[in-house]
Amino acid sequence: MSVNNRKYIVLLGVPGAGKGTQAQLLQDKLGLPQISTGDIFRYNLKNETELGLLAKSYMDKGDLVPDEVTIRMVEDRLQQDDCANGAIMDGFPRNLVQAEAFEKMAAPYGGVSVTPLVSIEDDVAIERITGRRTCRTCGAVYHIKFNPPKQADICDNDGGPLYQRDDDKAETVRNRLYVYYKQTAPLVGYYFAKALLVELDGARPISQVHEELLSLLR
Ligand code: AP5
Ligand code: ZN
Repeated sequence: MSVNNRKYIVLLGVPGAGKGTQAQLLQDKLGLPQISTGDIFRYNLKNETELGLLAKSYMDKGDLVPDEVTIRMVEDRLQQDDCANGAIMDGFPRNLVQAEAFEKMAAPYGGVSVTPLVSIEDDVAIERITGRRTCRTCGAVYHIKFNPPKQADICDNDGGPLYQRDDDKAETVRNRLYVYYKQTAPLVGYYFAKALLVELDGARPISQVHEELLSLLR
């Protein structure tokens, strides 16, 4: 007798796998919001909030922001009206503590629905991250070679300026990959054991990964 079920999709994959790109494409099609903890931290950073300043010291090194701060932030975000049918989680949970906290948040609504793992090799990830450009105003994600905007350095959606994320420098990217393998990769086994994991080949073009995800999620 579950009348309250929501769809919680957790996108997994190394930094640069394409989680944000795919979440942005899925939002409209599925009628669910993208919840990117990285984007929320960057928004706070831009607005110089207390949360943003705290997050900055971790993000600059490529380390995870402390769990209690991150978990509270996600709990708050999930209370908002646009999450009434669920959400596409992009970058959360990111370790076992966060995964267990998220399980509790999702439990009253039928639990986590599915966890697609977008798989790519590390060298592909590095090439993608170093060529990434992000819109300063709307957060849309581009790539100078694989997904360029119509006009260089200008967002197609709103004409906003594109910039390179501070943590997309080569030294920080190496630590982000290390942190992924140490802390986030165990979630692959965690969700596999719950029969929620589906693996996709993320090395294909953006549109092909999108089509596969869509058919899997509909
Ligand atoms: P976050 O913003 O989450 O970064 P990330 O996980 O490292 O992931 P990325 O945004 O780098 O990659 P993505 O998979 O979204 O790839 P994208 O679609 O952009 O986190 C940043 C920091 O915030 C963390 O280091 C941490 O400090 C903190 N943080 C965030 N969440 C946290 C949490 N839960 N707990 C604690 N701390 C947290 O694609 C990459 C590029 O490739 C783009 O240029 C794109 O155009 C291109 N591309 C995408 N798909 C394809 C394709 N199929 N073919 C060719 N190019 C493609
Ligand atoms: Zn924009």
